[in-house]
Parts: sequence; structure tokens; C-alpha cells
Amino acid sequence: MPVLEIVDLQKRYGRIEALGGVTLTVKEGEIFGLLGQNGAGKTTLIKIMLGITRGWSGKAFLLGEPAGTAHVRARVGYLPEDHSFPDYHTGYSLLDFYGQLLGLAGADRKKRITKMLEQVGIADRMHYKIRTYSKGMKQRVGIAQALMHAPDVIFLDEPTDGVDPVGRRDIRELLIELKKHGTTIFLNSHLLGEVELICDRVAILRKGKMIREGDVNTLTKQKGRFLIGLAPGQVFPIPEIRNLGYEVAPLGDRWEVQLLEGQSIDPVIDFLRSRTLNLRHLVEKRQTLEDLFLETHDDRSDKRDKRPKRETSDKITVLEPADEGHKS
Ligand SMILES: Nc1ncnc2c1ncn2[C@@H]1O[C@H](COP(=O)(O)OP(=O)(O)OP(=O)(O)O)[C@@H](O)[C@H]1O
Ligand SMILES: [Mg+2]
Repeated sequence: MPVLEIVDLQKRYGRIEALGGVTLTVKEGEIFGLLGQNGAGKTTLIKIMLGITRGWSGKAFLLGEPAGTAHVRARVGYLPEDHSFPDYHTGYSLLDFYGQLLGLAGADRKKRITKMLEQVGIADRMHYKIRTYSKGMKQRVGIAQALMHAPDVIFLDEPTDGVDPVGRRDIRELLIELKKHGTTIFLNSHLLGEVELICDRVAILRKGKMIREGDVNTLTKQKGRFLIGLAPGQVFPIPEIRNLGYEVAPLGDRWEVQLLEGQSIDPVIDFLRSRTLNLRHLVEKRQTLEDLFLETHDDRSDKRDKRPKRETSDKITVLEPADEGHKS
């Protein structure tokens, strides 16, 4: 059973269509990222799932129950965007307050508060008032609050907003740790690089409609685009490879081969080897999530396509040990 299931979800605020028929599922134990520009409908979707926003149509289930079902909330953690917790609380007293609301018993609650504040890295300030916290520290308290009751599912709306790079890494590690223990994580984010690092699957919303959805690896794959590097000083036989029917172009000190329908990279490698050229680098190229995002949002995509893509390589296959003695 999926943890979250949405079918044709629609929500209007007067004349504004916040969600225009969104369908998606989130499986147990995955980290799911919802991406989209300001106003795309990300927060609306989370609020509907938690029963905060009403007056929508379609189907929405959370942990097998219709969205908004009260008793399901006990199994759900939520970090709202732009939260402002009562700032007369200290980090500790805030969590104590939420813990009591959640019905966590005394001794356990106190242990849990300290543990959570340690995990988000503000244990040393836990007895200071929230009004004395920096933006990132407030965000960390918010995350601790969302995790206080060890929920099965957490919704994080821009979890790393205002958090410095070290803190962002800490939060990523914390989320990965939670995932290992089976927690399902749903997050909204603008930070695509970060989403790419931790999310198993993502969906991209644009003006309330879902325009892409899938696992991060598949979405960022650039089908059949390889980058080849030879030993220093060796020259790639471009005309011959083109004669074999391949598209090839130099890129820096490497060469990019774009496979056409039905082609495989193997004949190219065989040919290079038959010329006793030394392959030093063979990478199937990937685009970043940011490239994908811009591609799906850019009305100037013609221009954008001419911009060199930032390359993120995953599979680097070094085909043989470096042997510079073979230089031609
Ligand atoms: N309470 C409301 N009343 C009227 N319109 C609203 C309300 N809440 C959201 N909207 C509108 O619904 C649309 C979706 O807003 P939402 O907050 O879901 O976007 P978002 O993707 O979370 O954006 P951001 O990245 O800026 O947080 C926007 O056009 C917004 O103006
Ligand atoms: Mg939002």
C-alpha cells in the first residue's frame, strides 16, 4: 500500500487554480521531492494531505486513510514553510510543549527532546529563547519538532531554507538516517542540487500541473550520450567515426558521441582500440536536475540548449590501467 496516494487532485482559490489535477503516489520508505517554481502548488498539496486546506476535489489518501483524517496525524510529522514558533519558548520548552500535546510520557519525552536537539545540532543552545536564534537555528528547531514523535511520514516544506551549507549537509544526513529506519519523507524544495543528492523520486509541478515524475536517476539520464577521453596527446579519429555513422564532436580535451536510434557505443570503442588508441575515460553523461528543471520551465529553451550543460558523471569506467608508454 502506498504511503501517499493522490488522484486528480484539484484545488482552486477563487480564480486561482493552485492544483489542476495532480496524480502521484509515494511509496513506503522513500524520499520524495516535490519541485516547482514559486506558486506552483507545492505547499497547497502538503496542506491538503494534512487536512489544513479544505475544499478540494479528487482523491487523496495518507497512510491508507482519506487526507485530513485526525488519528493519522499522530503518525505524521510536519515542518511548515515560514513557520514562526512562539519565541518566548526555548528550543527545549517548545519541544516539551509539542511532546505533551502528542501525549509523550515524561521521562521518555525529556530523553527524546535532548536527542532530537542534538541531532539537529542545537543542543548547546536549547535553553535559550527562540527569539535569540538565527534563521537556520529556528529551522533546525522546526525539524526537531517535526520528528519529535518518531513519525512514520514527515512532510518538510523547504527544510533547508536559511540553513548554512554545513547545516544542510547535517540535515541531509539526518534524513538519510531516518530513511534507513523506514521513515517516508516528502519534501518541497527549490534546492535542486540538494534534492538530487537525497531524493529517490521527484515530481515537478508547474502552475498546478505535474509535468515530470520519476526516479532521479532515470530523469537525469541523457540517453546515449557518451564522453570519451584518450591518453594525452592522442587524437580522436573524428572523420572515421563519422564514416561509421556516429555523431561526434570535440568537447574540451574529450569527445562527445551521441548515439542515434539503435546504435551502440561498442563499435566506436572497437574502432579506437583497433587504432591502438588508449581509452582513459568513458562516461555516460547525465544532466543535473537543475538542467532538467530549467528545460521544463524555460520558454527560451532554444537558447538554453546552446548553453553547455554542466556534466555530472556517474559511471566512470576506466577501461585499462594508465599506460602512457603507448603514446602514439
Ligand atoms: N490561502 C490562499 N488564498 C489564495 N491563494 C492562495 C492561498 N494559498 C495559496 N494560494 C495560491 O495558490 C497557488 C499555489 O501556492 P502554493 O503556496 O501552493 O505554492 P508553492 O509551490 O508552495 O510556492 P513557493 O515555492 O513560493 O512556496 C499560488 O498561486 C498562490 O498564490
Ligand atoms: Mg510553498
